[in-house]
Amino acid sequence: MTAQLIDGKAIAKKVRAEVKLRAAEFAAAHGRKPGLEVVLVGNDAASQVYVRNKERASEKVGIRGAVHRLPADASQAAVVELVEQLNARDDVDGILVQLPLPGHIDANAVIDRIDAAKDVDGLGPQNAGKLVLGRPGHRPCTPHGCMRLLDEIGCDPKGLSAVVVGRSNLVGKPIAHLLLQRHATVTLAHSRTRDLGAVVSGADIVVAAVGVRALVRGEWIKPGAVVLDVGINRADDGKLYGDVEFEAACERAAHITPVPGGVGPMTIAMLLSNTVDAAYRRVG
Ligand code: GUN
Repeated sequence: MTAQLIDGKAIAKKVRAEVKLRAAEFAAAHGRKPGLEVVLVGNDAASQVYVRNKERASEKVGIRGAVHRLPADASQAAVVELVEQLNARDDVDGILVQLPLPGHIDANAVIDRIDAAKDVDGLGPQNAGKLVLGRPGHRPCTPHGCMRLLDEIGCDPKGLSAVVVGRSNLVGKPIAHLLLQRHATVTLAHSRTRDLGAVVSGADIVVAAVGVRALVRGEWIKPGAVVLDVGINRADDGKLYGDVEFEAACERAAHITPVPGGVGPMTIAMLLSNTVDAAYRRVG
């Protein structure tokens, strides 16, 4: 079997086109564009690129975007104060604090202050709690994008065995819950899991989100499985690689996301989608 590639770039484009329509409808009905504010603290190189991409993508779909750049030595109180100012503004629908924050700042103390209605990253305790309870709320962007990819290829998780490798708050934990909500039988594996190969080999859906190149071996993939590779690992050759041993996995999987061009493009698209959702919810 040679796997079909899941074209995240094309699917993200489709999502952005939907968002653009909804943003225009919102603006026509409410006299202002949906607004997304991004807070960037310090000089992390990858974060600078992400934030610039978010800024450009917002503008293209008719979302009013602004980036607040604070110096690397900004105090936690200064970051919290900025978040509180954005909470208080009526024209702000979404607030995203780019992670990682510099080491002297407690990320939880900042995230906890974001108004849950504006927490378009879905990382705060209210939205995370609602996800676990199966109640409506903002879903973290990358897992939300993964679920959209499954829908786009016609993969209904109901009754299937799904193995998630990685238990981060950003990806592993939330996607495990999203899959569970869609009636998959979910196993959440991680760095301490014994015999990971045996666990993965039973999976109809594999989500790899650990940040270790080729940790998931191609020979572990069950023939016909769907593989979503969330890993983005830059190697010494300057190229990006996923967490899955790609060529070998392609021999066995039915569908697989490439890296780059698979899950990656979906994250910003879902952030834009969450922002328009937030705008509509806030106006009631
Ligand atoms: N850093 C890397 N990915 C993300 C994300 O999805 N949200 C935030 N806030 N920071 C990130």
